[in-house]
Amino acid sequence: MQQHLILPFVLASFMKTCTGTNWCYQSQENCTSPCNGPEMWPIADKACDGKAQSPINIVHRKTLTDKRLTPLQFENYQNSFESLIQNIGHYVQVTLPHNASVIGGDLEMPYKAVQFHLHWGNKGGPGSEHTIDGEQYPMELHIVHIKQQYSNLEDALKDPSGVAVLGFFYEESPRDNRKYDPIVKALQSIVKPGTNTSLGAVSLEQLIPSQQNLTKFYRYRGSLTTPGCTESVIWTVFENPIPLSKEQLEVFSNLQFKDGKPMVATFRPVQPLNGRKVYRSGGAVVLASTTLLVASIAMAMGLSQPN
Ligand SMILES: *[C@@H]1O[C@H](CO)[C@@H](O)[C@H](O)[C@H]1NC(C)=O
Ligand SMILES: *[C@@H]1O[C@H](CO)[C@@H](O)[C@H](O)[C@H]1NC(C)=O
Ligand SMILES: *[C@@H]1O[C@H](CO)[C@@H](O)[C@H](O)[C@H]1NC(C)=O
Ligand SMILES: *[C@@H]1O[C@H](CO)[C@@H](O)[C@H](O)[C@H]1NC(C)=O
Ligand SMILES: [Zn+2]
Repeated sequence: MQQHLILPFVLASFMKTCTGTNWCYQSQENCTSPCNGPEMWPIADKACDGKAQSPINIVHRKTLTDKRLTPLQFENYQNSFESLIQNIGHYVQVTLPHNASVIGGDLEMPYKAVQFHLHWGNKGGPGSEHTIDGEQYPMELHIVHIKQQYSNLEDALKDPSGVAVLGFFYEESPRDNRKYDPIVKALQSIVKPGTNTSLGAVSLEQLIPSQQNLTKFYRYRGSLTTPGCTESVIWTVFENPIPLSKEQLEVFSNLQFKDGKPMVATFRPVQPLNGRKVYRSGGAVVLASTTLLVASIAMAMGLSQPN
């Protein structure tokens, strides 16, 4: 009986405090300083309780090959830009001032890149948001794109297919990845939440694997992985990871959250699929071998025309 009385009170007090940016990750929760961890997000943002949430665990053998998932074309990804890198108290974000966009891979139109940010673990430990067959990578990059006609993310989120996020995993490698020097260096200047610094000239191309290593990816419909959890995201998660050394991965853990704690484990736990299908690229390869097979059957049957 008592519990019935207490629960609405607890919920009400969360409603009061859990608005807008007052959410936190599991790693920030403790008994003495209550904060609104992932299981509380739905109280402020109903969408976080939706049926098509992200991230998810991708079970490879349950994914469906889709021949429409041709390699993406990256437009202006090679152009370098100067931008601010910001510690926004929950994670690190870079706003993209230029006109990079992505098309192909069954996207119905070009989507332009507006920002990128990262999710990571504790000193190089597990930290990606998506997992593959239960495996969690040390870090995950999200490059957020919106349909060409929208001028900001907020407007694009009102369209159920307004946003396309490209997700890239990182893996620990024996050597430093020199292409990440500008970002790793900039992190030292944005340890405190709310701070920013200029990121030297970088291009999106230098931050992701080379194009020939981006043909394998997964596709599903999901949401933002932070409140408001809006279900307007076409997710593309690439199989091939970006290499970073342990030292480079560890630098991210030196940053601080809004509450002053180390900014670690900045990932949302995986969410239920609720019957959603996850597709994978690779149709072209199957198609090519089918063509070969048909050709060889035709030949064996003496049907092929000499030419
Ligand atoms: C809980 O968080 C508060 C505020 O960040 C901190 O001062 C305190 O030491 C933490 N307690 C534990 C047990 O980690
Ligand atoms: C995109 O920006 C680059 C320079 O940043 C410029 O050279 C190019 O013409 C622009 N493309 C479009 C389609 O606006
Ligand atoms: C970046 O930080 C400076 C203070 O160092 C501040 O004046 C400015 O508004 C910040 N810019 C953004 C976009 O947050
Ligand atoms: C593609 O990925 C593999 C394995 O991760 C790597 O060894 C290779 O160097 C990459 N190729 C290019 C051109 O980046
Ligand atoms: Zn993200």
